Amino acid sequence: MSAQPGKIPFVDIQTQYQNLKAQMDAAVQRVMTRGDFVLGDDLAQFEREFAAYCGAEHCLGVADGGNAIQVALRALDIGPGDEVIAPTHTFIASVLGIWQAGATPVLVDVDPRHYTIDPAAVARAVTPRTKAILPVHLYGQPADMDPLLDIARQHKLAVVEDAAQAHGAEYKGRRCGSIGDIASFSFYPGKNLGAYGDGGGITTRRADLAEKIRVFRNYGQHPKNVHPIKGINCRLDTMQAAVLRVKLPHLDGWNAQRREAAARYHALLKGLPIGLPEAAPYSTPVWHLYVIQTTKRAEIQKALDDIGAAHGIHYPTPIHLQPAFADLHQGPGTFPVSEALTPRILSLPIYPEITEEQQSRVAAAIRKALGA
Ligand SMILES: Cc1ncc(COP(=O)(O)O)c(C=O)c1O
Repeated sequence: MSAQPGKIPFVDIQTQYQNLKAQMDAAVQRVMTRGDFVLGDDLAQFEREFAAYCGAEHCLGVADGGNAIQVALRALDIGPGDEVIAPTHTFIASVLGIWQAGATPVLVDVDPRHYTIDPAAVARAVTPRTKAILPVHLYGQPADMDPLLDIARQHKLAVVEDAAQAHGAEYKGRRCGSIGDIASFSFYPGKNLGAYGDGGGITTRRADLAEKIRVFRNYGQHPKNVHPIKGINCRLDTMQAAVLRVKLPHLDGWNAQRREAAARYHALLKGLPIGLPEAAPYSTPVWHLYVIQTTKRAEIQKALDDIGAAHGIHYPTPIHLQPAFADLHQGPGTFPVSEALTPRILSLPIYPEITEEQQSRVAAAIRKALGA
């Protein structure tokens, strides 16, 4: 969405493009000139660069962040009859990835302060069929990984990080994507590191998983026309990899700008009768989203609409209450924390280029709505 004068968009991809135009156009033209659109040079380079950025040994580019979850689980040989524990408060792709792999999602509630999977609930949900835990680093805030890694060690489970919203976020000094056995990323355009179309990646320190995925994502083919396994077509385009290579060196700077913007919101909104997001002591979040809690959501939404400021709800319905997952038979009342927060959460616009003036206008609209 472009920034029209006076309007405050939810993300500002076009200003970012204008700032990178010369380099970006050259990168895309380089791919077109070379013609290696599938499994080309920029993909191999991006995979090396993103793995190094995350502190993981390997990265494999895949079609998108949802498929990244499916492919990561399949690489771990998780499928029909196996259970994977995931939070109910997340984007539905986290849980659809489990279903795509043929496994059974076992949903649990989240921590009410940081919105990430509740380790105590995970411990209670383990059964003899459990094969993996799938924490989601929601809103750019790392899940509390140490207790999850302990549970995983105790029960011999894999830990699959859904890092779709957490490029560059750190947990106790370690980057998301390098903490569990394997991690999935989305490069959807609005993400902290976004392509110009769909894109995804998988990071892992395990060479065995990386090699399996390299073959699986390419029809199970290795070498050409030999198919040792059944696979799918799930590759990241060379063109998208070239776009991501232009952006990656800027990611830390953009994340720092997001942190500054979050600190500004905090200062502007402090003292109002709303819940403000808090960084957990163990984390350096990257503020993919800035989510407040309020009992006056409709009033604030209207006030933001009145000044032309975009806003969102991430997400209005926990997964266990989505019709698509009615077959889990977990009706209202099953996960009280998630059910209590979904009617109260509201995402304010946040992106690296957001200005102090735009944030002040958002804060003034919220004050007005609250009569403060
Ligand atoms: C937490 C989470 N998981 C998975 C996905 C799926 O990623 P994609 O849209 O690239 O398939 C997204 C984003 O869309 C997400 O936010």
